[in-house]
This record gives sequence, structure tokens and C-alpha cells, in this order.
Amino acid sequence: MSENTLSGKAAVITGATSGIGLAVARALHAQGVHLVLSGRSAARLDPLVQELEAAGLAGDICDPGLPAALLELCLARYGRCDIVLNNAGIIENGPIQTIDIDKVCAMVRVNVEAAYRVAYTFMRHFTACGAGHLVNLSSVMGTKVRPTNGAYAGTKYAIEALSEALRIEVAGTGVSVTCIEPGLVRTELHRSWPVPPGEALGIAAPLEPEDVARAVLFVLSQPAHVRIPRLMVLPGEHQI
Ligand SMILES: NC(=O)c1ccc[n+]([C@@H]2O[C@H](COP(=O)([O-])OP(=O)(O)OC[C@H]3O[C@@H](n4cnc5c(N)ncnc54)[C@H](OP(=O)(O)O)[C@@H]3O)[C@@H](O)[C@H]2O)c1
Repeated sequence: MSENTLSGKAAVITGATSGIGLAVARALHAQGVHLVLSGRSAARLDPLVQELEAAGLAGDICDPGLPAALLELCLARYGRCDIVLNNAGIIENGPIQTIDIDKVCAMVRVNVEAAYRVAYTFMRHFTACGAGHLVNLSSVMGTKVRPTNGAYAGTKYAIEALSEALRIEVAGTGVSVTCIEPGLVRTELHRSWPVPPGEALGIAAPLEPEDVARAVLFVLSQPAHVRIPRLMVLPGEHQI
């Protein structure tokens, strides 16, 4: 990554208030990218907006109007929108027959329905401009399953399928689509687990959010003729 091709571009990040979204926001800011940040918690969003000289819009990503509002804010503030990190997400874990089905459906609304709406809104804009990059936060669980992880994996398989179809549909244009597929990352995602996930999965050194941010930067910094449809990033100990 010698030449900075990102400076002056504008990016929207969903789920920017913690974990991977926050690390990517800081990494893009350091590259001179203008930011629109979103998350539910205004109390967490406001100081971040100050820190990163960004625009912010707090809200539930399941609100069908939020993706368009984020795009409009980006265009109004910066006159352009080049990148969206489609990142807001939650996890529910448990055996399929005993998992709380209402919580699973709520997860599907965030991880699938809202993520599809974000993709729909921004891809239409990128296609009209003939340029832009949709970066979807999938997971290593977007291509693999293990017991107790089927419901969450199902939401990430859905993201992979959408991304692959989109990539083919826009091939030959200036628009790019990428799925980032991290293994275990040390974030707040697993906050409700009774045992820390590193312990439960036997991973002493999970990824840090900054490890994923470096991968996102790598994907976004490629020459115009290069596409990276998928990038899996794993902790060295991840036996999967
Ligand atoms: N951590 C991992 O091991 C891992 C591995 C692979 C993939 N991923 C994926 O990476 C993405 C980011 O997760 P993370 O690990 O960084 O988790 P995190 O630290 O819990 O961050 C999740 C972000 O999503 C936002 N969010 C959640 N529900 C939302 C909603 N309904 N509306 C608006 N914002 C919402 C949260 O903001 P508020 O709290 O302010 O709402 C927060 O900013 C997710 O898609 C996750 O599936 C994570």
C-alpha cells in the first residue's frame, strides 16, 4: 500500500460505535477518508463524531429509512459517497431446536434484512455513478457451520449469496463488492456469552478489531482493475 488512493473519498459505516466498525472508522480517518458514522447509541456516537471529524446519524439499522438517510447525509456533507461498510450485526447462539426463535428472527432482521437494505440503497447509487465499493461484514461462518452456530451462520451465508450475485451483476462497471470473513475478533459481539468466546473456542489470541481494519484497508486500496470478492482473516489458532 504505497500510494494513498483513499484520501478525499467519503465512506458510510454502519455499526461504527464499537468493535470492527470503530476500528475501520479510525483507520479510514487516518487515510484522509471523510466519514458518516452510525450506530444505535447516540451517547457512544457523539464523541466519536467529534474525534473523527465525521458526520453522525444515530438509529436502528432496521429502520427501513436509515440507509437512504445515511447516503443522503454523506452526499449533502461531502458531495460524494465512495464506500459503505455494511457492518452492523449481532449474534445469537444455541442448538437449532432450543435456541430462542424470537431472538433468531430479530438477528435475521439486523444481519440480513437491514444489511440487504443497505446494499440495495448504496449499490443503486454506486451503479448510477459507475464507481463505489460495498464492503459487507460476513464471517468465517459465512462459508462454514458448526453445532450451535447454524442460525448466525445462516445470516452470513445470506450475505455471501447476495454479495456474489451483486458482484457478477456489476462486473465490467467500476463498482466493487467484497465480503470480509473474520474468525473470532475481540469485540462486544459475544457480550451475552456465559464464557468468553476465546475460552469457549480454545483461542487464546483472537483477532483484534485493528487486524480486520487492516484487511479492509487492503481491499479498498487495490488498483481499479482488481476485485477481491472475499477475504478471510483468522486467528492463527482457529481450528475450523
Ligand atoms: N467479533 C467477531 O468475532 C466477528 C467475527 C466475524 C464477523 N463479525 C461481524 O462483524 C460485524 C461487527 O461486529 P463486532 O464484532 O464489531 O461487534 P460489536 O462490537 O458488538 O459491534 C456491533 C456494532 O453494530 C451496531 N449495531 C448492532 N445492532 C444494531 C442495530 N439494530 N442498529 C444499528 N446498529 C446496530 C452496534 O452499535 P450500537 O450498540 O450503538 O447499536 C455496534 O456499533 C458484525 O456484522 C459481526 O457479525 C464479527
